[in-house]
Amino acid sequence: MSLETKKILLGISGGIAAYKTPELVRRLRERGADVQIILTHSANEFVTETSLQAVSGKPIRSNIWDKEAEAAMGHIELARWADVILIAPATAEMLSRLASGSAGDLLTTVCLASEAEVVVAPAMNRVMWSNPAVQANRKLLEDRGVQILGPDSGSQACGEEGAGRMLDPQQIAEKVMAPKLTSVSSLVLRGKTVMITAGPTREPLDPVRYITNRSSGKMGYAMAVAARDAGANVILVSGPVSLVPPTGVKVVNIESADDLLAAAHAEVAETDIFIAAAAVADYRPSVRENTKIKKSADEITLSMVKTPDVLATISRLAERPFCVGFAAETDNVKDYALGKLTKKRLDMIVANRVGENLGFDCDDNAAVVYWRGGEQAFPMASKAQLADDLMQLVTERYKLRNSEEVIAANSVARD
Ligand SMILES: Cc1cc2nc3c(=O)[nH]c(=O)nc-3n(C[C@H](O)[C@H](O)[C@H](O)COP(=O)(O)O)c2cc1C
Repeated sequence: MSLETKKILLGISGGIAAYKTPELVRRLRERGADVQIILTHSANEFVTETSLQAVSGKPIRSNIWDKEAEAAMGHIELARWADVILIAPATAEMLSRLASGSAGDLLTTVCLASEAEVVVAPAMNRVMWSNPAVQANRKLLEDRGVQILGPDSGSQACGEEGAGRMLDPQQIAEKVMAPKLTSVSSLVLRGKTVMITAGPTREPLDPVRYITNRSSGKMGYAMAVAARDAGANVILVSGPVSLVPPTGVKVVNIESADDLLAAAHAEVAETDIFIAAAAVADYRPSVRENTKIKKSADEITLSMVKTPDVLATISRLAERPFCVGFAAETDNVKDYALGKLTKKRLDMIVANRVGENLGFDCDDNAAVVYWRGGEQAFPMASKAQLADDLMQLVTERYKLRNSEEVIAANSVARD
């Protein structure tokens, strides 16, 4: 998204991820943003004013007791100047100061004195991030309208693995003024429950072997993060994947299509929007042997039976949630997708082409979304970006369906 003419006040606090901020400044400026930096005292230990000044093209502000700047009430000037205040990385300490309304330094004072949107990209060790005090601060800030970007999961500077990494500078630059900041998404989805299925299923042949597919779960996991960031309660029903589960999301792990159906049934009563991104096996071996199949005959024949159609089952419930399907096809993508939309009585279907280096197990994806009477194409983008855009569209269509239902109910009541 273009940041042309946008004034971004970038606050950098003292986490190890501060070393990525010169790159972040470049990504923001590439998109046309005017970037002014405030550095906390601790951040100065990780990244130098000299490099940040060089990439931002502006003197760095860090001291509230800057006599020259404060002659003209510099902190108020900065607070009024910003279209958005982005704090990246945001330390645990910074989240705590923001949550408590502290004004003990230049950055927190500017945050208190500004009417601009505040967006934070937390970065810290995974144990710090999962600490209840930090999570309480996160929730408080979110409830007050602060946008939280990430954190990401993966390997950390401290050598551990888990949730707490700052999002990549590229992702932060993409998301900092994404439409959802000003959109209806967060209002519509607040308090709603979105159930998302993700990943492959495993259909057992015997205790050691199974049939599966190439789904990595990345798209479903990205949808879960997008729904969570848009304010929804998220239930992620996940097949076996090697991804770290996103924080703030209820994860239900399953193996087979039967498990997936049982898990979806167990959660559906509370679900407002059901997004089926899992690559559920269409067939499973008709018999699951209790002991390992031995290598003896030269040839064996495998008999398969159809698995339950999870999405069609959910969409046919009397009290059904808003249902969104995914169609991953190698050919005739549009025809198959439209066929599924009608046959399974879906509200929307996200269609994408899969094949070698396409769709499965890669970080980028493109898609076309169809619904009765409409369609929208989404060009190739990171799965995180695509998920945000898809969630935006899902929210709009969900809101529209609800308002149509209210109108229909009112006219029936009048008749
Ligand atoms: C080497 C080192 C790395 C640190 N990395 C982080 C970090 O990634 N996230 C975090 O929340 N705190 C981290 N800290 C602790 C903060 O620097 C400390 O809480 C500090 O008071 C933050 O101040 P600030 O938020 O005003 O910048 C680190 C400290 C050290 C010494």
